[in-house]
Amino acid sequence: MQQTGDEFDLTKLQTDRPHPARIYDYWLGGKDNFPPDRAAAEHAISVSADIPAAARENRAFLQRAVRLAARSGIRQFVDVGAGLPSAGNVHQVAQEIDPQARVVYADNDPIVLTHGRALLAENRTTTVLRGDVRELDRLFERPELLDLIDFEQPVAVLLVAVLHFVADEQAHKAVRQVLDRVAPGSLLLLSNSTHEGNPERAAEAAKTWDKTETGIRLRTRAEVAEFFDGWELLEPGVEFVPLWRPEGPTEGSTRWMYAGVGRKA
Ligand SMILES: C[S@@+](CC[C@H](N)C(=O)[O-])C[C@H]1O[C@@H](n2cnc3c(N)ncnc32)[C@H](O)[C@@H]1O
Repeated sequence: MQQTGDEFDLTKLQTDRPHPARIYDYWLGGKDNFPPDRAAAEHAISVSADIPAAARENRAFLQRAVRLAARSGIRQFVDVGAGLPSAGNVHQVAQEIDPQARVVYADNDPIVLTHGRALLAENRTTTVLRGDVRELDRLFERPELLDLIDFEQPVAVLLVAVLHFVADEQAHKAVRQVLDRVAPGSLLLLSNSTHEGNPERAAEAAKTWDKTETGIRLRTRAEVAEFFDGWELLEPGVEFVPLWRPEGPTEGSTRWMYAGVGRKA
């Protein structure tokens, strides 16, 4: 992995308040979290014990969609809001299909950068950058990204479980910037939390995010589908994550997140 100019100011880790990446890490069984993250994550579990399963099912969606992209010939991936390294990261899934697949991870949380870089120290086709989904044009112009990603060729862009941390206007701007930037044949892989599958518990579960900087925007199926305006939405359209092209009978049944994949015509 190449070095970049991103600075790590570890004093900004803000371990005294919960952070999305670390709450999610706790649900996935990771160790990179602090007491406020665990308290927030446990609140969610107390409201609905299936929330860690929803996080795992979201990861499983991400992996199925990355495999679909790689099997359809895509060899470059940009994963924005990548999160802390977990089992089956994008580069591991894609490079199983082609070891030359190139992956750029971006996240705005410094803890993700430090852990990502440790994981990728030996990997020359993968890098991790500081990047914000609210400033995708800036990220897409970074020389470190352009060393690996050729926007003249199809690319898979992942906005998985990240748009619910930004306002509607910013989320729509982000997907529009992706559409404008990528070549025909490119894919947009996306998921977003929703209240529709658990209407009676969603408001209480959403309090999990009250003390974070971002809060959360739960969205309806129709609102998530709007992110694919201008994209050809692949079958089965926007679905609860375990129902998006399930691969086996062991798939779960949570209803906390919607997912979809769009193709640029
Ligand atoms: C729930 S995790 C999802 C991780 C991974 N995409 C997945 O679905 O397994 C959300 C990630 O988005 C990151 N994030 C939140 N707001 C962001 C923003 N404005 N720009 C970039 N990343 C952001 C968080 O730091 C966190 O790592």
